[in-house]
Amino acid sequence: MPKKPWTPESWRAFPVQQMPAYADAEALARTEKRLAGFPPLVFAGEARKLKKKLARVAEGRGFLLQGGDCAESFAEHSADNIRDFFRVFLQMAVVLTFAGGQPVVKVGRIAGQFAKPRSSPTETIDGVEYPIYRGDIVNDSAATMDGRKPDPERQIMAYRQSAATMNLLRAFAQGGYANLENVHRWTMGFLKDSPAFERYQELADRISETLGFMKACGITADSAPQLRVTDFFTSHEALLLGFEQALTRVDSTSGDWYATSGHMLWIGDRTRQLDHAHVEFCRGIKNPIGLKCGPSLKADELIKLIDLLNPDNEAGRLTLIARFGADKVDKHLPDLVRAVKREGRVVVWSCDPMHGNTIKSTSGYKTRPFDSILAEVRRFMAVHRAEGTHAGGIHVEMTGKDVTECTGGLRALRDEDLNDRYHTFCDPRLNATQALELSFLLAEEIKKEMASRPPIDDEEVEAAE
Ligand code: PEP
Ligand code: CO
Repeated sequence: MPKKPWTPESWRAFPVQQMPAYADAEALARTEKRLAGFPPLVFAGEARKLKKKLARVAEGRGFLLQGGDCAESFAEHSADNIRDFFRVFLQMAVVLTFAGGQPVVKVGRIAGQFAKPRSSPTETIDGVEYPIYRGDIVNDSAATMDGRKPDPERQIMAYRQSAATMNLLRAFAQGGYANLENVHRWTMGFLKDSPAFERYQELADRISETLGFMKACGITADSAPQLRVTDFFTSHEALLLGFEQALTRVDSTSGDWYATSGHMLWIGDRTRQLDHAHVEFCRGIKNPIGLKCGPSLKADELIKLIDLLNPDNEAGRLTLIARFGADKVDKHLPDLVRAVKREGRVVVWSCDPMHGNTIKSTSGYKTRPFDSILAEVRRFMAVHRAEGTHAGGIHVEMTGKDVTECTGGLRALRDEDLNDRYHTFCDPRLNATQALELSFLLAEEIKKEMASRPPIDDEEVEAAE
């Protein structure tokens, strides 16, 4: 079937969900025009590099680690925050690589994760009905009538913050901070009394020992740049389509369109309707794309979405992010996995154990029990082992700070503790200790998968490089 024509603005002719109601259409148009003249935040070549890495994951050779804030905020934009996030992320990646024995593709929910889909357009506080908060790129989280008005100028602020965050991340990833020889230094004070920290120390000792051995053999961070630098990519939900359109550019080397607001964009569970604007926009950009798969997604609909989003069945193009809730994985995931396999579609299967496990705690906070998060991961991995498919990734909401937002974990955070440091602007995130604990569990699950499948031929890997 010939593909329908696509342009960066073709989404505008489709029905659309979750769009803010801007009062001044002209001001919005002026902002989008300004954004369209700004430099790209990422480059097409980088998005292609990520796609190649994800293609390897889709083939069963690697693991995708994707994580970061539910929503970035203007108030919490600091070097400390970014560094703390980045180092826990590196710790997780090192656990997965070393203990899990798989190359890890690192993708942050960062440098652009500002727009939020909401279940209701308004909320009532003390008898007053306010427009809902839709992320700092749209309006203010503080409940005032003025602050909740969508303001186009916020898109410019989000763009500038993303550029500054991206700049620091590039420096961390390429400028020496991510050198594996620093593996002992990526820890933070508050982790010290946790069991996950002890496990991490042991693992870091083994890595240092291995690096010492390699050095004696003549392999050092100077001679092997993989030890010194790392590839770190950015991602966010492609929700605010006017903003995304303004940053979508033609790549001069290939003539293809790329979103340059982040390396990977995903379609949320609330905006994945086949004949709606978000799917239309995403089908035309060449970046790697994620698709959230929640309990209401049927197998035949998923295949139609894959037809639209990845008609050439290109490996690395599409990551399916399952987010059912621990008790619903077994009911929904096998059907989808089987349909994708039966139709011969190449995808990365990733697990988001956060969004299906949100509950209201007795203390009134939105929280996520850590046990449910771990249970969803275990069920996800077990389904893939049973189906003989690769459990290729994890997608989490996390922070480098010692927040109290998800209950449980080895330090046993209780409902009563949530009030201590509940800082999120949207959904509850894993704190640094919980994120590290999760990665140890994942490493074990990855090893189980590797033990249950035929070994992959390394010569083939080398030939492909
Ligand atoms: C999110 O990832 O923050 C999100 C809103 O997820 P979902 O679309 O899966 O609900
Ligand atoms: Co969220």
